[in-house]
Amino acid sequence: MNVHTQGIGRDGIEDVLKSIDVARGLPNEFYISQERFEEEKQSVLFSNWSAIGFAKDIPEHGDAMPIEFLGIPLVAVRDQHGSVNVFQNACRHRGMPLVQEKGRLRGTLRCPYHSWCYGLDGRLVTTPHVGGPGQNTHPGIKRDELGLLKVRSHIWRDIIFVNISGDAPEFEEYAADVIERWKEFEQPLVHGGESSSFKLEVKTNWKLAIENYCESYHLPWVHPGLNSYSRLEDHYNIEEDGKFSGQGTMVYRQINGEAGESFPDFEGLSQKWDEGAEYLAFYPNVLLGVHRDHAFAIILEPKAVDETVEHVEIYYTDEGAHAPELDALRSANAMLWKGVFIEDIFVVEGMQKGRHAPMFDGGKFSPVMDGPTHTFHRWVAGEFKKARQAGAR
Ligand code: FES
Ligand SMILES: [Fe+2]
Repeated sequence: MNVHTQGIGRDGIEDVLKSIDVARGLPNEFYISQERFEEEKQSVLFSNWSAIGFAKDIPEHGDAMPIEFLGIPLVAVRDQHGSVNVFQNACRHRGMPLVQEKGRLRGTLRCPYHSWCYGLDGRLVTTPHVGGPGQNTHPGIKRDELGLLKVRSHIWRDIIFVNISGDAPEFEEYAADVIERWKEFEQPLVHGGESSSFKLEVKTNWKLAIENYCESYHLPWVHPGLNSYSRLEDHYNIEEDGKFSGQGTMVYRQINGEAGESFPDFEGLSQKWDEGAEYLAFYPNVLLGVHRDHAFAIILEPKAVDETVEHVEIYYTDEGAHAPELDALRSANAMLWKGVFIEDIFVVEGMQKGRHAPMFDGGKFSPVMDGPTHTFHRWVAGEFKKARQAGAR
């Protein structure tokens, strides 16, 4: 072992990797230090499949939206075949961002600076006056080498995932276990419309939002309303090492409207889902929930080391999303979830404050209740370690 590799776990990640009864949580600096945040971008968020947006926001051919992901300007575009592509939002000429706001393009992405135009598939198609006034070509400008730079992307459950580093396994392989676990829910998801979309800005490190979502331990105190029918003992832990973790409940109760109306179920679900529901953190930055009659996805957008935006979107079956008589129920369901997620804000912001206590040692996990949280910590620590080892080689 050389000096460098000896130093890889110097900040406590080795203690995180231990078994839960002796492990400690990630040390403070993983939540508050700018240097660690920069390291984390590369080691955790860019090297895996991170979520950046929702495909339903660009429903039609030619729709485009700019997305800034941890400082990287990106643009998601739906092409003429209906597929979504993600490009770096920077013109190949002088680097100007091509798309400034969400909207429908008229066939091409036109740079606002010198008007170079790109097809929806990223090909450079026109370069006005590039060879001098009236000369739209020049032997030195090889259009076929100057297409927009594509970022690896994949859509699953309406979520746009990107792998910035380009070297993660194929998405289908990366997500194989969660897809398998929820294969019954691999069916059309239809967004519930305006009322089913909201965001919460939270003064916390994105990881604390994951850690809180993973566990049901806090239900009795933080969510007394939920806990009144779905008690601690009705929950079970879900831990899939290196991939995802979360919790399930055995007593999901469907929401009913004043006239007794309810949302239609997803098709062909097995009995498990009559009264069951599951909530998973799919690493790194997506929180998912599935129920017989609706599903939701939350993308955690890490804005800064201590600032996160939670983008929440709720989905139904085709019928559930479009039936006008269920409009009020969809709003009520969104309000219900919003209330629950708001209840979590004081703890995720509180834990962030606690990370400034200099003698806090990462914390002690309950070997019984905190398994899913520890599974996430271990994954993060492992990703840091892997990247540091690769860097030390
Ligand atoms: S920077 Fe885009 S055309 Fe010049
Ligand atoms: Fe919670």
